[in-house]
Amino acid sequence: MIKRVIPLGAIFFFFVLVMLNGYAFGASAEENYQFYCAQCHGVKGKGDGPNATETQPVSPRDHTNTKEMKKLTDEDIINVIKSGGAATSKSTLMPPFGKTLTEKEIQELKDYLRKLCKC
Ligand code: HEC
Repeated sequence: MIKRVIPLGAIFFFFVLVMLNGYAFGASAEENYQFYCAQCHGVKGKGDGPNATETQPVSPRDHTNTKEMKKLTDEDIINVIKSGGAATSKSTLMPPFGKTLTEKEIQELKDYLRKLCKC
């Protein structure tokens, strides 16, 4: 019994920390990226997250590909994060985050992506 209680307590504690961090101090762009984007776009932004499988018709954008990322304006990036692939004539596999993230968080994610692609 004890064995089950300890990990649950630890998990609960972890979530409290994550929530405190998110609400009280505001999550950084990198934290938001790792939380919301990395499962598809990869921890380092290379488009190779665990959800990006070969059976998918399109791969998530490799955010470290300077040449491809250069083609996107700041507005394009903000738009696709806010409204998702469907709204921007891209794959619907790219979900919309306009209701999940604030305007400021989306702006900061855009800046974070610009750092990844060095463009
Ligand atoms: C469920 C998987 C998934 C998640 C989660 C996801 N994306 Fe994507 N994303 C994709 C796919 C697939 C594409 C490629 C769409 C295409 O090229 O048609 C894409 C494309 C993009 C593009 C390029 C769009 C373009 O016009 O070329 C940007 C920028 C982007 N994602 C940012 C993000 C950010 C920032 C997050 C987290 C807030 C995120 N994505 C979360 C799957 C995902």
